[in-house]
Amino acid sequence: MVPFRKYPRNLTMSTTALPHSEVIPVLDFGSQYAQLIARRVREAGAFSVLVAPDTPIEKLRELNPKGIILSGGPSSVYEEGAPRCDPKLLELDVPILGICYGMQIACQLLGADVRQARHREYGRAQAHITDHSDLLANLPDDTTVWMSHGDQVADADEHFDVLATTPTCPYAAVRHKTRKFFGVQFHPEVTHTPHGVDVLHNFLYQICGCTDTWRMSDFMEKQVTEIRAAVGSDRVVCGLSGGVDSSVVAALLAKAIGKQLTCIFVDNGLLRKNERSLVETTFRDHFDIDLRVIDAEAQFLGDLEGIVDPQEKRRRIGHRFIDVFKEASADLPHVKYLAQGTLYPDVIESGQSLAGTAANIKLHHNVGGLPAELGFDLIEPLRDLFKDEVRKLGEVLGLPEAMVWRHPFPGPGLAVRVMGDITKPKLDLLRDCDEILLEEIVANNLYRQTSQVFAVLTNTQAVGVMGDGRTYEAVVAIRAVTTQDFMTADWARIPYEVLAVISNRIINEVRGVNRVVYDISSKPPATIEWE
Ligand code: XMP
Repeated sequence: MVPFRKYPRNLTMSTTALPHSEVIPVLDFGSQYAQLIARRVREAGAFSVLVAPDTPIEKLRELNPKGIILSGGPSSVYEEGAPRCDPKLLELDVPILGICYGMQIACQLLGADVRQARHREYGRAQAHITDHSDLLANLPDDTTVWMSHGDQVADADEHFDVLATTPTCPYAAVRHKTRKFFGVQFHPEVTHTPHGVDVLHNFLYQICGCTDTWRMSDFMEKQVTEIRAAVGSDRVVCGLSGGVDSSVVAALLAKAIGKQLTCIFVDNGLLRKNERSLVETTFRDHFDIDLRVIDAEAQFLGDLEGIVDPQEKRRRIGHRFIDVFKEASADLPHVKYLAQGTLYPDVIESGQSLAGTAANIKLHHNVGGLPAELGFDLIEPLRDLFKDEVRKLGEVLGLPEAMVWRHPFPGPGLAVRVMGDITKPKLDLLRDCDEILLEEIVANNLYRQTSQVFAVLTNTQAVGVMGDGRTYEAVVAIRAVTTQDFMTADWARIPYEVLAVISNRIINEVRGVNRVVYDISSKPPATIEWE
């Protein structure tokens, strides 16, 4: 939980100051969902940290864990170089829950066979519960579970009791006959497993004996203490975008170090309409901080000229941000740190999970896009949190509701919503579409019911007819999603009537658009942004 990237996220740093008596370490085998497990545990009221899979037993013991969870991971237990855990782990006298790969590796160590399933199983499956006595207590006899695996446990009857099966997976959930080990082949941490939370709850409260003590206010206090101790009398610069994440970072830092904080808002020319004046007024009204507004539109658009590759766009934007920050903070005394609102999904999707094995899906500008030589040390106090946890932290910090509940806006802004090359006229067109879209979403009381809504300017022209003439104009896509954690998302069921109004208004009010389409893809396999 140390907020500074320059320190390795290892056990020594993250546990010496742990004020929690009930810790559930999650061994991260590289799953996209590892932090989601930790977060579900924290949501359930116990403290959880991610640790490397090969963490020595003595280090784990120092944590005094109430239980341990082994995450899933993309590897096969038979793969060379697949992450392993210390076999002695299973001799610790604490309950252990293995999930997917975590189950397979532990079951193999405990004498079961692990085999490649005939078909890779991905998606929903129907589980039949055969034993309701502990891990699966209070679950219905038949329930949906989310599967994502190639290998699975086989021939485990000698050492394990079966708790649940699916039509293709005879050991969907198991309990070791003599040790406190439980395994589930499915993913209880994702929302696609409707009773997954109950499974984790049973593990924590029935099996590990936790007592519900961890709160977000603890997290806040701990961060404040750590930031104060690390920053000392130095100055911190914070890139303020006006979004939830950077606002929460700014509020947290303001609480920790007050006047040693300078916030810099960069108008990069990739913002929504009127965003700059909105952020300026909101922040001047709510915070007693040093806020500097920098106009850097020309530099950013210059950097992006002719660039079509989304990763390259992110990289250039990331680099320019840092240069602008450096320049803007050059006259400030003792600036040592740059604070960023990097969230866990940004970290894990850039392939920087603790185990280093999560696939690199997208280069987020505030993680992978940073130049190696920053000139600042980074403070990233939200690096272990998901979006909804950040909102909770914002509430604990006393931020205004309208700010805490703003839909997120990506750092690279409209650059990743204009497909292909970026020009100011295209950005202006998109800003107009976006404004209409959000006006209608708010007017129809859909803002709080959706998690993120925006327009995308596709690089497709389509034929249309207007008056008596043929048109050949831009296609604009509407993206609206609902999600808890932005790791998975569903497309929002915006009523047809509202979509009709949005489409009519955009086509009639924005010159250069003759077609509006609605994106009905979920994440995965799509992502929320188009680029
Ligand atoms: P994706 O497209 O990865 O988006 O499903 C998940 C969430 O992250 C936001 N996003 C970004 N935020 N820098 C950011 O600060 C980025 O490069 C970036 N790319 C995506 C996206 O808006 C959504 O909320």
